[in-house]
Amino acid sequence: MQHKRISVFAPASVANVGCGYDILGFALHEPGDRVIMQLNDTGKVTLDRVEGDDGLLPRDPGKNIVSAVVNYFLKKTGITQGVSIELYKQMPFGSGLGSSSASAVAGLVAINELMGTPLTREELLPLAMEGERLACGNAHADNVAPALLGGLVLIRSYDPLDVIRLPYPENLYVGILYPHVEIPTLEARKILKTNIAVTDAIKQWGNIAGLVTGFCTQNTELIGRSLEDFIIEPVRAMLIPRFYEMRKIATDHNALGFGISGSGPSVFTLCQNKETARKILLLLQELLNKDGIGSTPYLSAINKTGPLVEWIN
Ligand code: HSE
Repeated sequence: MQHKRISVFAPASVANVGCGYDILGFALHEPGDRVIMQLNDTGKVTLDRVEGDDGLLPRDPGKNIVSAVVNYFLKKTGITQGVSIELYKQMPFGSGLGSSSASAVAGLVAINELMGTPLTREELLPLAMEGERLACGNAHADNVAPALLGGLVLIRSYDPLDVIRLPYPENLYVGILYPHVEIPTLEARKILKTNIAVTDAIKQWGNIAGLVTGFCTQNTELIGRSLEDFIIEPVRAMLIPRFYEMRKIATDHNALGFGISGSGPSVFTLCQNKETARKILLLLQELLNKDGIGSTPYLSAINKTGPLVEWIN
């Protein structure tokens, strides 16, 4: 029997957004991952092709994130169905841009569409979070939620899961620089402190409240003032080459804010227009070049729509 094929692109995302460790994230337009999927009559979930990963991702359908989340989906919905999967990695992993989330979300949206959307995007979220658990040992949602739902997302609570889409000023532009050093999320989580001082927590709470208020009221100056992380960034910054020099360049050139994207090594700068973001990225690249560290820049507005679905004949 001839089955329909679907292609789904799911975007990269910036998790934490400065002070919102594990609770804030927004989606980008690029980079991202693409999954092409088709039902089959074998009764099995197969991984037929993986490209763009230099052979590094697992080919075993039990271990690869995309096939794993497709299996979670089939289990949850009680559907017995063979599925053939192709994964096209179009973004680096271990980069702090939510690479595993993009793959998981593309896979989940593809199977859900192929099956006639038995689940809403919100209902796919816990399955995507299980993909994160498989990727790095922790089921956080600050990459998968924006990759799946688009836009800027707040995870107000994990238990019960309470996810809120936030408004934001339309003119915001994001510059991302991915320095070519690898920081696995698992390692970047292990080094964090397990206790924090109340004095630091107070400053952090103030900033999170200020940041969310700034986004909701379109107050870019307040967003800039609040984009400061007193708890996670000081620990992780030492893993990122010339982090504080990069921050100074960004703030000296009119960035609203600067921080680590997810668990790094990518850094992001939030700006009021594309030109500012572009200029800062060039200067950051020049700085890292002095140490012989290559880097990849990405420029994007916040992506409101999330995954892109295309049927292929
Ligand atoms: N909130 C996560 C972290 C995002 O910072 O570890 C990375 O996946």
